[in-house]
Amino acid sequence: MCGIVGFIGNQNAKEIILNGLTRLEYRGYDSAGLSLFNNRYQIFDVYKDEGRVQKLIDSTLNAPFSNIGIGHTRWATHGKVNQENSHPHYSQTRRFIIVHNGVIENYQQLKDQYLSKSNFTSDTDTEVIAQLIETFAQTLHVENAITTTLKLLHGSYALLVLDSNDPEKIYAAKYKSPLIVGHSESGITIASDLMALVGYSDTYHALEDKSFVVARREDVKIFNLDHVPLDIKFKPIELDDSDTTKGDYPHYMMKEIHEQPSVIRRIITNYYDKEQSLIKPEILSVMRDSDRIYILAAGTSMHAGLVGKQLIERLTSIPVEVHIASEFAYQNPLISKNPLFILVTQSGETADLRACLVSINERNYRSLTITNVPTSTLAREATYFLELYAGPEIAVASTKAYVAQVSVLAILAYELSTKSFDLKKEMSIAATSMEHFLESEKILDIVRLFLTRRNCFFIGRGLDYCVGLEAALKLKEISYIQTEGFAAGELKHGTIALIEDGTPVIALISDPKINGNTRSNLKEVQSRGAYTFHIVTESCKRDGDEVILEDVHPLLTPLVMVVPTQLIAYYAALERSYDIDKPRNLAKSVTVE
Ligand code: F6R
Repeated sequence: MCGIVGFIGNQNAKEIILNGLTRLEYRGYDSAGLSLFNNRYQIFDVYKDEGRVQKLIDSTLNAPFSNIGIGHTRWATHGKVNQENSHPHYSQTRRFIIVHNGVIENYQQLKDQYLSKSNFTSDTDTEVIAQLIETFAQTLHVENAITTTLKLLHGSYALLVLDSNDPEKIYAAKYKSPLIVGHSESGITIASDLMALVGYSDTYHALEDKSFVVARREDVKIFNLDHVPLDIKFKPIELDDSDTTKGDYPHYMMKEIHEQPSVIRRIITNYYDKEQSLIKPEILSVMRDSDRIYILAAGTSMHAGLVGKQLIERLTSIPVEVHIASEFAYQNPLISKNPLFILVTQSGETADLRACLVSINERNYRSLTITNVPTSTLAREATYFLELYAGPEIAVASTKAYVAQVSVLAILAYELSTKSFDLKKEMSIAATSMEHFLESEKILDIVRLFLTRRNCFFIGRGLDYCVGLEAALKLKEISYIQTEGFAAGELKHGTIALIEDGTPVIALISDPKINGNTRSNLKEVQSRGAYTFHIVTESCKRDGDEVILEDVHPLLTPLVMVVPTQLIAYYAALERSYDIDKPRNLAKSVTVE
């Protein structure tokens, strides 16, 4: 959460930072701010306010040229959404200016212990960092003042610091929150996400925890907190503009929904060389030898995990438990003798999952992170990691990452099985069937007909139930319609009391064996006035069904069944004129617990 971009070099820092912030705005959009050096007055100007990056772009139109600056988009944690709490923050004399992503858990204690005489202008934990640096810099060299401060902080941080006494340097540091250093002939860009570097840096280095960076126009040096130099391994940036822009689509979410067939194909290419799986044999043997697999995840990724459980249990004899990360982290559930933990996460930075991984590592258990971001914390800290190859997912509502997660979990399950079918072929069929549906979908008409109510249900059984949970999350998070995903047979045990005249109930039916059962549940709600709508596969279709999808392998139905539900959410939000890519109260990459 929160996007950070800093630049020092021989170009216009404002342009690089504002473009970077625009690309990172999906990480938080409560406020945006920027600090640039004003050569005339020899000070760092600060521009900041609540609202979007566009407002910042407008308010900095006439800002003088500066070759150094730092910027921030905020997802509020400490203090209201207002101008005072927006970043950058400064120290009392305005000598130090900082932007921060993360949460300082002991900020109040630090304030009481070291800063009782300082005046504060915001309610944020971040301002404490700026004030501490200034306090220590009264007696210490600036670099020591910063590292002394860093050593006192409990929590998480990705930080950029400017010193008005030396406008030739940006200091940076990271712990738990991501931070990446980019390099090109024209300068050094430091950002919380690779996407901000595209077009401005040729190579990048993902910082390790407790790194301290000193960036100058011509070079960058990285140390640990005791000032011992660390190795820098710059790697080429492989993203390009098409990964970071909407192209011809009106929203990133629509673009990402349409990318799903190609994501499945990319996964097949990256995971197979002809018939040979490219997964490290060690990962498969650890899975095979484990007596229980624990899938840990949050939100959409947890829903993909629920599908993964069914796939692994149907294709192998390994029992699987799926846990919500924030619950698992602090509940001390009983663990089997020889477990494997699979962390499913698009961003690889989710703090709830990090809390799980810290305790998994402390107990010396093995773990596998499945993530879209190979440089992420959870990829680096797990025993093994597998990449999703979904490409950057920019819409806050996750779509293609879910499809990628289900696909990778399907490959893992299949590689542990007796391989009674050809998974690659079946995945390709699923990708093509998705494309056929997307070419001719008429979901907008259907949404207009009945999604005018303030509540909605998705019902299904088995894998369709898992998809129903994800469908409900998607609809509520972007259209704000109160939606529940329900096991079709469970509705009558209480929740059916909520069904009234016109309540929309969307049924997902892809398994012919339980088609009749779900249809009976539909009759139950219809007779109580529900407006029902049916998404079914060809082999389950009956007269009057509204959306009919081509049949795919029975284990891969979640890949195709989810697509109409994503579009229902998209069009419901569009009809209500909501901000589809940036829904209220949310942010991509939830780096706070
Ligand atoms: C919903 C959504 C979230 C994330 C959740 C976990 O559309 O995107 O529910 O799935 O915050 O995030 P990751 O997968 O990054 O761990």
